[in-house]
Amino acid sequence: MEKYVFIQTNELVHQIVKEIKELIEKKPTALLCIAGGDTPKPVMEKLVEASQNDEIDFSTCYFVGLDEWVGISKETDGSCYQTLDDYFFSKLKGVKPANICFFNGKATALDQECERINQFINKRQQIDYILLGIGMNGHLGFNEPGAEITKEAHVIELDMTTKQVMGKYFKTALPLEHGITLGLKQILNSGKIVLMATGEHKASMIAKIMNSEPTNQIPATLMKMAGSAVTLYLDQGAAQNL
Ligand code: PGA
Repeated sequence: MEKYVFIQTNELVHQIVKEIKELIEKKPTALLCIAGGDTPKPVMEKLVEASQNDEIDFSTCYFVGLDEWVGISKETDGSCYQTLDDYFFSKLKGVKPANICFFNGKATALDQECERINQFINKRQQIDYILLGIGMNGHLGFNEPGAEITKEAHVIELDMTTKQVMGKYFKTALPLEHGITLGLKQILNSGKIVLMATGEHKASMIAKIMNSEPTNQIPATLMKMAGSAVTLYLDQGAAQNL
């Protein structure tokens, strides 16, 4: 896992946008996955700008959701889908709604929902580029500590840390107990895996990840197994304990 520390967060964002642009130029039908947390929002903003300025053509790209809170969906402020839609999908030029496949956290048959997502990915073999934030407990998507490395999309019980942090996404407290998420197997199988962390509040988890052998108790450490396919991009705040 290669690690790069950027002096300015906007340089980090620029690097990721450049990589996505180059990928789409090479493969216009690329399958992309961008996490719905706070970390990737500046990347989404720059990608939107590039789309509006006709510097990146997303019209033939495919998008798959990373995760969602079970019990809510696009109509809830702060849901993963709504975040992606607000910051990204709804502002891109020429994106086809049929090319976007996102978890519905309100689906009654969640196993079928997982299967629908798995099939969307399998039809395209793999995710070409996945941009992930890192949770305060080292989770990726909702692959919480202890998540199984062999799993594809699945439902998982939310970890205590996730429940403590989740208030930042919502205007009112929501009684959410589970997440639905792409599995570590699908993440590890991606063509390019980018882990992005910004801000001092991520520094101690980043140091833990760097100093640990791969273990599913800290899911982000498992990305070390992806070798050169994975890159960790940090700003100075997130890298301060290294
Ligand atoms: P954040 O979330 O980007 O909002 O910090 C990261 C995560 O929980 O994966």
